[in-house]
Amino acid sequence: MSFRKDFLWGGALAANQCEGAYLEDGKGLSIADMMLGGNVDTPRMFCPQLQKDAFYPSHEGIDFYHRYKEDIALFAEMGFKSLRISINWARIYPNGDDEEPSEAGLAFYDHVFDECLHYGIEPVVTLCHYEIPWEIAKRYSGFYERKTIDLFVRYAKTCFERYQHKVRYWITFNEINGATLPVGRYNGVGLIEKEDLESTHPIPKNQLKDVPQKRWQALHHEFVASALAVMEAHKIDPAIKVGCMICHIPWYPLTPSPQDELIAQEKNLMFNDLCGDVQVKGIYNPLALAKLKNDGIDISFITKEDEAILKQGRVDMYTFSYYMSNCISSDPHAAKIKGNLSGGTKNPYLEATDWGWQTDPLGLKWTLKKLTSRYPGVPLMVVENGLGAKDVVESDGSIHDPYRIDYLRQHIMAMKEAIDEGVDLIGYLPWGPIDIVSMGTGEFYKRYGFIYVDRHDDGTGDFSRRKKDSFDWYKKVIATNGEDLD
Ligand code: BG6
Repeated sequence: MSFRKDFLWGGALAANQCEGAYLEDGKGLSIADMMLGGNVDTPRMFCPQLQKDAFYPSHEGIDFYHRYKEDIALFAEMGFKSLRISINWARIYPNGDDEEPSEAGLAFYDHVFDECLHYGIEPVVTLCHYEIPWEIAKRYSGFYERKTIDLFVRYAKTCFERYQHKVRYWITFNEINGATLPVGRYNGVGLIEKEDLESTHPIPKNQLKDVPQKRWQALHHEFVASALAVMEAHKIDPAIKVGCMICHIPWYPLTPSPQDELIAQEKNLMFNDLCGDVQVKGIYNPLALAKLKNDGIDISFITKEDEAILKQGRVDMYTFSYYMSNCISSDPHAAKIKGNLSGGTKNPYLEATDWGWQTDPLGLKWTLKKLTSRYPGVPLMVVENGLGAKDVVESDGSIHDPYRIDYLRQHIMAMKEAIDEGVDLIGYLPWGPIDIVSMGTGEFYKRYGFIYVDRHDDGTGDFSRRKKDSFDWYKKVIATNGEDLD
């Protein structure tokens, strides 16, 4: 067995990290536009007011808004079967609660989808990839207020209706499980406390105030909004497939001590599976609810009506990001390491990237097999995976990135093994097929692409595109349906 004939090979992008044109054609600000760039040791800063003369990486992104034709042509040259992008909510409803959607915003995505379809590239579209309109964050505390559920569902419906003949695959919220941790309060659910909103100076994003009770309530509202959107999509066309999107990180016990086993079990449940269970099975796992209550969260925000909605609005596929794994230990002195959304305990068997993410291809196999046994019959799609690395442009303009090829090759081999062992995997969309702004650090220096973009952290660069060695390698992988990985 190997990859199915109609396997969706491609890549994944997010509007806020590539489009730029942050106020063009009537677009409103989104929460992503309020963040300065940082680096691996310096957190990004949240600015309640935009600062004059400061460099905001998302404001120009890589100028995909004006260059999407060139970029999609390059993706087509690699043989992409699919492209994941997000719609920037604030392009469609600039303030989130406007009476009518913006025709200019809607038309932009019509053009992007048409361009994809012209090359036979199937769009996979995320409705909210850390792009809550800034006005919704300010007026309604993001998803903390129930009002935002209605605003999201209206936005989703607008998109489903408009693009029903162009888009078959949708994702509601990117990495929804980020909001199980403090890190998700801002990007994930758009919840900013009054004192931070009223601050006269920028605040390091890791110092924004976190109120777990409110964050869990906001996350619950996202679940309800997602379920209602799934129901709307199916009403419009039952053939539409909607996915959840989970940042899946395996948490291994550092030692075989039963104590480590138990905390790993709980961590996997609370970080990975709680959100998956709500969106795929339509229920809160009882152990997760008990843990929340034991942690002092009052879960009375989950109403009977909500429970019925969650049951009805279950997703059709499990889509997820996978970059790395973590260990967890009951020993408070065990060495720590950074990671995507969450760091953890260092694994002595794994190497880490320059940004401290532990590379673990077998962890992807572990994840695929685990998901298949947890959600039998539900197709899986990897909608993010990749290596963020520094690339060097040689004097002749070439870019040699064997480290990226090696990372991707090992992950593709792991997917192949998982398929051989019974996993139903329908697609692989590695992250940032063209270099884009890093979400975590706001850098251009951390690059994922098969295509290099001349844009730098000091705001210089002419946005020109150039192929890296990995471009031809990935093209060959797609052409051979994953058979030739050399
Ligand atoms: C995922 C996000 O967590 O990781 C993306 O969905 C993000 O938006 C990606 O870009 C890689 O993270 P980073 O911090 O390297 O950009």
